[in-house]
Amino acid sequence: PPLHSLISAPDFQAIASHTLTPKAWAFYSSAATDLITHTQNKALTRRIMFRPRILRDVKSVRTNRTILGCESSTPFFVSPAAMARLAHADGECALARGVGGQGVIQCISSNASYPLSAIVAAGGKSQSFFLQLYVNSDRAKTAELLKKAAALGIKGVFVTVDAPVPGKREADERIAAEAVASAISGAVASNDKKGGGMGRLMAQYVDKSLVWEDIRWIREVSGLPVVLKGVQSAADAMMAVRYDAAGVMLSNHGGRSLDGAQPSILVLLELHRICPDIFDKLEIYIDGGFERGSDILKAIALGATAVGVGRPYLYALTYGEEGVEHLTQILKDELETSMRLCGLTDIDQAHPGLVNTQGIDHF
Ligand code: FNR
Repeated sequence: PPLHSLISAPDFQAIASHTLTPKAWAFYSSAATDLITHTQNKALTRRIMFRPRILRDVKSVRTNRTILGCESSTPFFVSPAAMARLAHADGECALARGVGGQGVIQCISSNASYPLSAIVAAGGKSQSFFLQLYVNSDRAKTAELLKKAAALGIKGVFVTVDAPVPGKREADERIAAEAVASAISGAVASNDKKGGGMGRLMAQYVDKSLVWEDIRWIREVSGLPVVLKGVQSAADAMMAVRYDAAGVMLSNHGGRSLDGAQPSILVLLELHRICPDIFDKLEIYIDGGFERGSDILKAIALGATAVGVGRPYLYALTYGEEGVEHLTQILKDELETSMRLCGLTDIDQAHPGLVNTQGIDHF
């Protein structure tokens, strides 16, 4: 179908389920075992209800945010996802062009299919990028990557902490395909003959012995602000403050790691309950199941600085750069509509009183 006939993120997903190869669809859409966390990520955000205000002049709305010190035209950014080349020949470079023109930040996966330099070059001059990091058991390789990222002008490092080992993603394991390699980490994604899918084979280089002290090492080697991606409890968010993280990303890898882990939105509520002052100490990001402007607004109202969007961008990438651009406009338009209907003229006005969380408070 022509691009203009697609009007929502779910539309892109529906098309992608037919147009991606069976292997790419399985790798992108899959999540761990019974998909409990994957399903509930979205379901629980949708049990939060708005408490809109009326009769405010909402002729103009402003969605701009500063994310980790970088200007962004939106309070959402692209979550890092491996192997974008499975969606489109230009992979992460097309993604960079698609969001770059619109002032949206892209977080590049350690397992991207294109080299870091090519992706950064594809973006515009003023475009900001973050790098997602999987620490290699060979630390020298990680140090080299971090120095390269800093030299290329990357603005922050998102260290993934929810996947010392990949989750068991059965759809991925069931479909075998030809191998694809990452131009950044060198990891080869394929299926072995023992039921291991792309996710598992790709993760072989990842250091399972990573501990809190290593966060400081990453900060020192890169000279960049460090965000922990995959924080799933207030206890660990508080630890992140002690270890000088600039932010935490509440995430469960889109339900691809530990199945049964609590949805990210519950972790956000846990922060309010257990350590409400954390919002003054760290930037809080969140991802998992956000596919509507209204979903995004709920998390921002609850104190998130920004929301990551993962799979929807991979599905949009099946239409190349234009698809990515189109999805960005859709999300921004939905967000602006929700803001206006809530009585907001600036995203900075969003606050917890804007939502009713009773539907998940005792979950
Ligand atoms: C991911 N994710 C991910 N995370 C990460 O830190 N490094 C990575 O290389 C990848 N790769 C990856 C591949 C694919 C195909 C998917 C779907 C996801 C997780 C990603 O950053 C993000 O946390 C989730 O995708 C967010 O959930 P939604 O938006 O997909 O529901």
